[in-house]
Amino acid sequence: MKTSIKKLKKRIADLDKANKELMQMRSAEKFEATGRIARTIAHEIRNPLTNINLAVEQLQSELDGNTVGSSEQLLGMIHRNSDRINLLITDLLNSTKFSDLRYQEVPANMLLDQTLELVKDRMLLNRIQVVRHYSEAECRISVDLQRMKIALLNVIVNALEAMEQGDGVLELRTYAAGGKCFLVIRDNGPGIDENALSKVFEPYYTSKVAGAGLGLTTTQNIILNHHGVISLESKKGEGARFTIELESS
Ligand SMILES: Nc1ncnc2c1ncn2[C@@H]1O[C@H](COP(=O)(O)OP(=O)(O)OP(=O)(O)O)[C@@H](O)[C@H]1O
Ligand SMILES: [Mg+2]
Repeated sequence: MKTSIKKLKKRIADLDKANKELMQMRSAEKFEATGRIARTIAHEIRNPLTNINLAVEQLQSELDGNTVGSSEQLLGMIHRNSDRINLLITDLLNSTKFSDLRYQEVPANMLLDQTLELVKDRMLLNRIQVVRHYSEAECRISVDLQRMKIALLNVIVNALEAMEQGDGVLELRTYAAGGKCFLVIRDNGPGIDENALSKVFEPYYTSKVAGAGLGLTTTQNIILNHHGVISLESKKGEGARFTIELESS
């Protein structure tokens, strides 16, 4: 009896593991597919946009002082808006394009501390309490420091934006297990409901008035670029917990 329960437990644990791996594979595939679509559309939009800009510049130089009615103003409007579209495309491309990484070996704890330093003032201003549960054993990882700081910063800024002023608790945890290094960022904000959970990494998904919805897309891009895994656990009303898993070096 005891051995069959043991076997069953082992089987459940194996299934859990396989399920987790499948989900991670799916999210990586989804990211790649989204990135491909985004890059194709961006490329297709850029060509006619360049033509529009060239035509407007030509018209502006032909008019040169001899403006008819509000034509100069309207041409300026076309120019400004096509510049804006160009910028949006650049942001989208940057958030989904893998780049060449300049690896260096760093302790995970130091990486988190250096990232936190970048938002120190906002933390103080919002009276956010930071709780560190850092691994005592050395947890070293090979990362592109600048890129990885951007990845973590996006997660920390979201946490900051989600928490109540004066009531926020940001928990940072690191630990090593099975040749991997885990970095956990947890907040006590309102959390994310089940429907939104699968969308937060998608480009342009945002619930904020002034949000671009590209922060977590960029983060996922950087983590996948490092052959790492990022996962999110959250329930409405119970805060959010992001776990980043990277190969130990
Ligand atoms: N810690 C969090 N708590 C609650 N909701 C979150 C948290 N992190 C992310 N979200 C949700 O995920 C959405 C997407 O986040 P993401 O960082 O990609 O974009 P954003 O913060 O809206 O805009 P930006 O591009 O400026 O970062 C957020 O708008 C928010 O709804
Ligand atoms: Mg954000």
